[in-house]
Amino acid sequence: MQKDPSKKYRAFPAIHLPERQWPNRLLTAAPRWASVDLRDGNQALAVPMNVSQKLELFRTLVKIGFKEIEVGFPSASNTEFNFNRRLIVEKHVPDDVWLQVLVQAREDLIERTIESLIGAKRVIIHMYNSTSPAQRRVVFGKSKEEIKAIATKGAQMIQDRLHRLEGTEVMLQYSPESFSATEVEYSKEVSEAVMDVWQPTPQRKMILNLPDTVEVAMPNVYADQIEWICKNIKQRDALIISLHAHNDRSTGVAATELGLLAGADRVEGTLFGNGERTGNLDIVTVALNLYMHGIDPQLDFSNLHSIIEVYEHCTGMTIPPRQPYAGELVFTAFSGSHQDAIKKGLAERESSPGAHWEVPYLTIDPADIGREYREVIRVNSQSGKGGVAYLLEREFGINLPKDMQREFGPIANDAVDQLGREVSGADLKAMFWKEYVERSEPWSLAGFETENKKGVVKCQAELFHSGKPVTFNGEGNGPLAALVHGLATSGAPRFEIASYSEHALSSGEGAAAIAYIQIKTPDGKRRWGSGVDTNIEIASVRAVLSALNRL
Ligand code: KIV
Ligand code: ZN
Repeated sequence: MQKDPSKKYRAFPAIHLPERQWPNRLLTAAPRWASVDLRDGNQALAVPMNVSQKLELFRTLVKIGFKEIEVGFPSASNTEFNFNRRLIVEKHVPDDVWLQVLVQAREDLIERTIESLIGAKRVIIHMYNSTSPAQRRVVFGKSKEEIKAIATKGAQMIQDRLHRLEGTEVMLQYSPESFSATEVEYSKEVSEAVMDVWQPTPQRKMILNLPDTVEVAMPNVYADQIEWICKNIKQRDALIISLHAHNDRSTGVAATELGLLAGADRVEGTLFGNGERTGNLDIVTVALNLYMHGIDPQLDFSNLHSIIEVYEHCTGMTIPPRQPYAGELVFTAFSGSHQDAIKKGLAERESSPGAHWEVPYLTIDPADIGREYREVIRVNSQSGKGGVAYLLEREFGINLPKDMQREFGPIANDAVDQLGREVSGADLKAMFWKEYVERSEPWSLAGFETENKKGVVKCQAELFHSGKPVTFNGEGNGPLAALVHGLATSGAPRFEIASYSEHALSSGEGAAAIAYIQIKTPDGKRRWGSGVDTNIEIASVRAVLSALNRL
């Protein structure tokens, strides 16, 4: 890296917009959306989609609810051209969906593009040329006037051929490519020159797409540029102002949201942000950000998982685990305090399901986009007792007493630490069984019978102590009291029962019951034990022996 980066790089100049309005506005409705997955997304793939993959993705985009879909660059190759023809001839495009195609301002390309659209119901012809100082100088070696002439000539070539699309509803779109790196005054000048050719009206608007082709500044600068254009361009009411952000500075979503505040009507982007370099704007994130604020995004991501499947299969791309909304880990809490807060938030929702969503750490209800609560909590060595208890309860109906959670939590954490990986509910159950339920040394149970005469319970116990049989009788006001008294006569350490609870286990556990018992020795030592049996009395006896074995 440079010692003094200012010698090599410089900040993009600020836009003079002293009365800027966008910081005081709020988003209240969804914009028009245009998917550019099949064009900008596709052109950035190492292996571009084949026709059947493009068709599958196109159908998915329609199902999500996109009404404007840029399907390609039909003049770029036969594959692109044929795909367009197939969509039209085989009638894959619903009547309310606009088929958008991209073309450069060149006669041969425009000719072929028009040819590819014949017979379509509704089309958007999207013409672009680069306008930034660097493109003008380095790529084209042309003056501002010459670059403007490329745009107006291209616009005229399109205009002159529209009669060939009789019966097709046509909307025209112009992009001054690299808009965000272009002087706003010059973008306005070129765009107005194109408007002079296309003559849009409030009844027959054209789309003016203002690309953040490469993010060169902070998102507030893009918002200023958009507001500047909205305020200064002629015939604003004959225009649909459209945003097209890329993500070079990782602020494509922010730039788009601020651009909408600044007055834009439409957003171009791709699913999960696929696209050139760092990608295009991720439409899923912007749409679900609106949803999170209670605004209907007009796009349906109820089954995000199946959309991800199609996307990954068609593009060969994968979704990073931390991708907003879609990533595998987005609804997962690793930290114990997060898990505890989520657990409390979810429990509160159960008691007031109609309330606004306020579960800590979860921006939206995962269920709304087809994700499961099952993904909310996982346990690793950093997790607290809350996460451990939550998984045991949710997956196996094992409802540990609070105080026992405090004892088992660190035991589980140590075991998880040794495993060195994240663990499932089944792993935790196995740890619990090993620590408590399966403890059989030194004490284990061979038989236990009781009889109750007028409130006095007598027991007859057959146990093993370090493999040797031990039998005794005991008496008390209940089976456990009888057991404790009997044990006291058989060489077991003295103790009393400090805490007891039990419940049935879920049906998967063979209709068994589980008992949790805490014992306390005369010197104040406390230990928990747990026993499982189809007979609740025997489950309790096993729990006492489990605790005794843990002294
Ligand atoms: O990023 C961009 O500027 C583009 C244009 C063709 C709209 O993709
Ligand atoms: Zn782009």
